[in-house]
Amino acid sequence: MPWPGAAGTLFLMTDERTPVERTLAELGATSPEAIAARFAEVRARFDAETARLAPCDLAAWTAVRNAWLGRASGVITAIGDNWLKPATPEQKRVVGKSLNGLKAHVERTLEELRARAEAAGDAGPAAAGGSDLSLPGVRRALGTRHPIRQTREELERIFRSIGFSVVEGPEIETPYYNFEALNIPEHHPARDTMDTFYLSLPKGSPELLLRTHTSPMQIHTMERQQPPVRIVVPGRVYRRDNPDSTHSFAFHQIEGLAVDTDITFCEFKGTVEYFVREFLGPKTRTRLRPSYFPFTEPSAEVDASCFACDGRGCRICKHAGWIELFGAGMVDPAVYGFVNYDAKRLSGFAFGIGVERMAMMRYGISDIQLFYQNDVRFLRQFE
Ligand code: DAH
Repeated sequence: MPWPGAAGTLFLMTDERTPVERTLAELGATSPEAIAARFAEVRARFDAETARLAPCDLAAWTAVRNAWLGRASGVITAIGDNWLKPATPEQKRVVGKSLNGLKAHVERTLEELRARAEAAGDAGPAAAGGSDLSLPGVRRALGTRHPIRQTREELERIFRSIGFSVVEGPEIETPYYNFEALNIPEHHPARDTMDTFYLSLPKGSPELLLRTHTSPMQIHTMERQQPPVRIVVPGRVYRRDNPDSTHSFAFHQIEGLAVDTDITFCEFKGTVEYFVREFLGPKTRTRLRPSYFPFTEPSAEVDASCFACDGRGCRICKHAGWIELFGAGMVDPAVYGFVNYDAKRLSGFAFGIGVERMAMMRYGISDIQLFYQNDVRFLRQFE
């Protein structure tokens, strides 16, 4: 008969029979101590086997029960047949008592395990200390794109749709790219509002600063590529501004530049109007006001008819009917000089749009600081 469990590993002998298939005399266990030791061995085997049972594996439990309590060939029956029956009358008392003890232990243990398996089956595997793989998983809420990111992507989409490509540039610049090549020489008053965060570097190193606008990418792009140029440059910029409801030391812009052989003010105006209508709605009107930037000539402020009152005048447009959107203009020929472009043959326009400003208008947000506080109650409104 099979010895339950790891058959044969412990009792591998020339005789193939397991201990319970042999008599105590054959095993040389005649003294009460030797008999007790044999019973202890069998009991340890049973305990080891039941300890390995999974909590709700009823099939495995049944196999163990049959192996130990099966009427015809269970271990308990075998011990009765092979150890008890052939024993001497003195041995019988010891064997009988031990056998009863073992049988009670086996029955009690198996009964406890059965009750445990049934309870686990009713209450689900989790109740038995395991994991319930049928439960739905824990779902983590996905974040949403920040309103600044959403606005930036919308701006990119609009300009892509009319042939602009999107490029990005470094946030650390040299004064040359941030100022000089954009026709803003040292001591020019336009630097006053822009003089910014300079990096503290070892003495003698070339000066570096955080860019104050995305315009330096106009220069980088024209240095790298011949016309035609049609790019927009989204990115973060820095200024030495004190924070208030419309200022932040770091914010975002999207720069635009178009240069070719036949770009006139009409292309400039048409592009700007297309953008305004796409972003603010088809009924929005556009107005250009004269302005000044060192790198454009002529320069303009682009205004849109107020989206809230349609130009009649309201609190949002401060009763002007118009809202200032961004700065723009025709590229100043002086700039072409810095990048070896032929100013006689080429012309173009540029613009610099504040992303926060566009987002505030679109969503009716009155405080720029809300964008940077990462309060989920604010951010969740842009799902
Ligand atoms: N760089 C300007 C600023 O940050 C914005 C600007 C104005 C960019 C006019 C341009 C432009 O390209 O043509 O204030």
